[in-house]
Amino acid sequence: MSRANPNEERAPSIVGAGIDRLDARLKVSGKAEYAAEVPVANVAHAVIVTSAIARGRITRIEISEAQAAPGVLVVLTHENAPKLPGATRRDGPVDALPQLLQSDEVSYNAQPIAVAVADSLEHARAAAELVRAEYAETAPVVEFAAARDSLYVPKTAGPQAQPITSRGDVDGGLRAASARVSLTYTTPSHHHNPMEPHASIAVWQGNDRVTIYDATQGIFGVRKKIASVFGLPLENVRVISRYVGGGFGCKGAHRSHTALCALAARVTGRPVKLVLTRQQMFSLVGHRPRTEQRLALGADASGKLLAIRHEVVSDTSRFDEFSEPSALQTRMLYACDNVHTAHRQLRVDLPTPTFTRAPGEASGTFALESALDELAHELRMDPLALRVKNYASRDMGQDKPWSSKSLLSCYERAAQQFGWDKRENAPRATRRGRYWIGSGMATATYPAHQWPASAVARLRPDGSILVQAGSQDIGTGTYTIMTQIAAEALGVPLERVRFELGDTSFPETPVSGGSQTAASTGSAVRRAALDLRQLMIATAVGDPRSPLHGLAPGAVDIRDGELVSRAASSGAASSGTGSNGPRGASDSFVELLRRSGKPELAARVDNPEKPERKQYSTHSFGAQFVEVAVDDLTREVRVTRVVSAFGAGKILNAKTARSQLIGGIVWGIGFALHEHTAWDPRTGRAVTRDLADYHVPVHADVPDIDVIMVPEEDAFVNDLGAKGVGEIGITGINAAIANAVFNATGQRIRDLPITPDKLL
Ligand code: MOS
Repeated sequence: MSRANPNEERAPSIVGAGIDRLDARLKVSGKAEYAAEVPVANVAHAVIVTSAIARGRITRIEISEAQAAPGVLVVLTHENAPKLPGATRRDGPVDALPQLLQSDEVSYNAQPIAVAVADSLEHARAAAELVRAEYAETAPVVEFAAARDSLYVPKTAGPQAQPITSRGDVDGGLRAASARVSLTYTTPSHHHNPMEPHASIAVWQGNDRVTIYDATQGIFGVRKKIASVFGLPLENVRVISRYVGGGFGCKGAHRSHTALCALAARVTGRPVKLVLTRQQMFSLVGHRPRTEQRLALGADASGKLLAIRHEVVSDTSRFDEFSEPSALQTRMLYACDNVHTAHRQLRVDLPTPTFTRAPGEASGTFALESALDELAHELRMDPLALRVKNYASRDMGQDKPWSSKSLLSCYERAAQQFGWDKRENAPRATRRGRYWIGSGMATATYPAHQWPASAVARLRPDGSILVQAGSQDIGTGTYTIMTQIAAEALGVPLERVRFELGDTSFPETPVSGGSQTAASTGSAVRRAALDLRQLMIATAVGDPRSPLHGLAPGAVDIRDGELVSRAASSGAASSGTGSNGPRGASDSFVELLRRSGKPELAARVDNPEKPERKQYSTHSFGAQFVEVAVDDLTREVRVTRVVSAFGAGKILNAKTARSQLIGGIVWGIGFALHEHTAWDPRTGRAVTRDLADYHVPVHADVPDIDVIMVPEEDAFVNDLGAKGVGEIGITGINAAIANAVFNATGQRIRDLPITPDKLL
């Protein structure tokens, strides 16, 4: 558990404590209601029928048999589905174009081409099997090699960054270098595979109002998209998402299935439930795009970097845009005068990719941090010493100071705990029985975002505090940390606060993505709680019937869920203000509200981005150290130890933060060793379409993971000082593993995942 911050406003600190998730019991006892489990009367079931080709047109679609099957309400296709006013509208840079049965065109394999709706799931599935389609097919382009002539520069790298940047003279720097590497790294597609499949239930009230229960990372994004697709005012769409069984990005942007569910409900005049199958999640909800990254590094004999060139090629669909910004960290991670970064994209006949845990940084740090390891080898230098040598004391890409940075402490503490000084720098030097042993390290980094968010805090008649903010808890602990933040800001015990989320009727907040929910929604919750505190104190001192009447607001505090005069609470003499207020006076929440005659006291805030942020570059940093054992016989790689340290600002809950970081590292092990969506080059179909074929790390693949949270204060990043921990864990870890494999075997694998065949 992290130590409490001595500068907290109130002690003992609730924020930071590693308390258990408040929803843990509900979840493990099956009482937490996920989207597909919400009981809705008279609900019908929809099943999506998907295309058998990747590119072409539907020439004939036969539904008569399906329509006549038992229990079937309707079978929708492009021939009979209502035209939707906003079906092809793109609402902003992170929006994805849905496929809503509006045309005969097929743009990727396993695209929706029909929806069967029936009175039971079994009937809907049976009917879906009976839909027959014929196509005019064009051969899909799937492989990078076949798509080269489509290469283009996207308007932005990721949602908003410049695609191409340069500073200094990279060619000159490379020429002057005494050691250089120039290499290409490739990473495959990934699918997110949250445990809970995507699911929606749509309930229309008449023809122009709809409530949607959805498994989503962004209820307000879904509301906006559904309103846009159906041409409805925003306030006519309500989206509810109380519990979400994982997201990792694939529940971040709206995709086709939620609107298809709403469409089926509108056509049938019944509530409709639509749950994707695991297989459908390999085509309908996006994936991490493939990357091919060329890295050139040059350094002088001391290891000082003289040039970095990082050129990324990733893929997107032929019909839509998604940009994987894998070179962003290269602009700022190391001190170097001469840096060129570029993002380019290819068009292929695959589904449009989407955000996948640390989009950009997860694949980008693999290339950059592998290349640094290769440069260290060229220089005969310790890879950690090379990083320290090139430590960036400011963001040279943005030309700004850091809001805070603890990377040197991360290196030091993780290295020490790992025992890095005992490592043999020469590869293939350590053998333990059948295994070659090696260790490697890498730097981790992820931006610390804050976006505008709103929240409301309410004092209820029973003296409890109810705090509400739209938001989502995708398994990260949002319910828990928001409750902690509100309780501490108000000065009440945790048990007195209830935090509600997951409803667009609550104040608006951002998507649960980009590792910024704690920073954004957390800052709004804190501000609302502080405002309510002020309101309660003002109400008490202004109320002639309050024992605190007449005290200056500053002379009143809230402690242990009571309003008390500070003189009383500190045991000190009267502050000299509020002469009417008797010393030692207190007032209860229940009495305060009862006397006010109001049903509640409420403080609602719209909290903007902290203005001071703009002058700083805001990032979390970390250091990942890994030991591997490579079986000399089978060439299987096992990760045997991980020690990582992170500086991520204020840690709001030591337990949930640690779980987030470990979760990222586990996916990093999958990234390095297991995960790979194989696209069939002939059909554009994901061949790995279930969790038997798509390998994820399981318990036996994951060693003990030591996570060190380096204490870090940040006065600028947001009012909480929290930088977010959702994504940084998956950055750098894949490179640390590849570097450890090199150290163990002398074999450098630049194409992930590192499967035994590549080490033979
Ligand atoms: Mo995360 S990939 O920003 O949901």
